Amino acid sequence: MSSLMESRNLRLEYLQAMGVQAWELRGAGAIVSEEQPDAVAQAVPVSVEAAGSADVAQLDWPELETGVAACTRCELHQTRTQTVFGVGNRHADWLVIGEAPGKDEDLQGEPFVGRAGQLLNAMLRAIGLRRDQVYIANILKCRPPNNRDPRPEEVTCCEAWLMRQIELIRPKLILAVGRIAAQNLLQTDAPIGKLRGSVHRFRDTGIPLVATYHPAYLLRSPLEKRKAWQDLQLAVKTMGDQP
Ligand code: URA
Repeated sequence: MSSLMESRNLRLEYLQAMGVQAWELRGAGAIVSEEQPDAVAQAVPVSVEAAGSADVAQLDWPELETGVAACTRCELHQTRTQTVFGVGNRHADWLVIGEAPGKDEDLQGEPFVGRAGQLLNAMLRAIGLRRDQVYIANILKCRPPNNRDPRPEEVTCCEAWLMRQIELIRPKLILAVGRIAAQNLLQTDAPIGKLRGSVHRFRDTGIPLVATYHPAYLLRSPLEKRKAWQDLQLAVKTMGDQP
């Protein structure tokens, strides 16, 4: 099988995993889904103060990794197996931000390696991205016990690490997966159903941010995969509009 055929088949496979019915334009080689992206992507600027403490804001990648690994800023360091720094291409255009490590991530030290991670990989493949082409991080670097929601003080303690990662990566687009990521990044209490479906700006950086459902939620509510697919299409369109 040619490598073109192989990658097309792989993409179809992932679209199926996303629960999206897809067909191919004969001869064109393009995969078209039954879903259409939202007609108008609205930019909603969110202005907030610059985040991150002065010391962390100066760190390079090795210093940042060391700092995170030794972090005791909040109580979560007492119950973690290890910190989960982030993974992927440090020059990526796409930055995917989730909530916090779960059990598998806490054990393996890498974000999104459990069942939700498998679906996240499938979602990325559906838009033609391999996991190692993007950068993946979380709002929190440590697992909250029993996967409870992150507490506001934990998010505050952890924020400078993530802000420095964003500064170093300088992504062209942030994909916030799940309510916790979207609400914290956009500093709003609005429900995820309201945050998804349009293009926001990440604070004063101006980086476009698209929010979508968390893959763990999609595993529980597969019917919502159609909306997640629309969000991914919106993100691809937004990326295409970037200089
Ligand atoms: N859920 C998340 O939000 N992040 C992970 O790394 C794993 C599961």
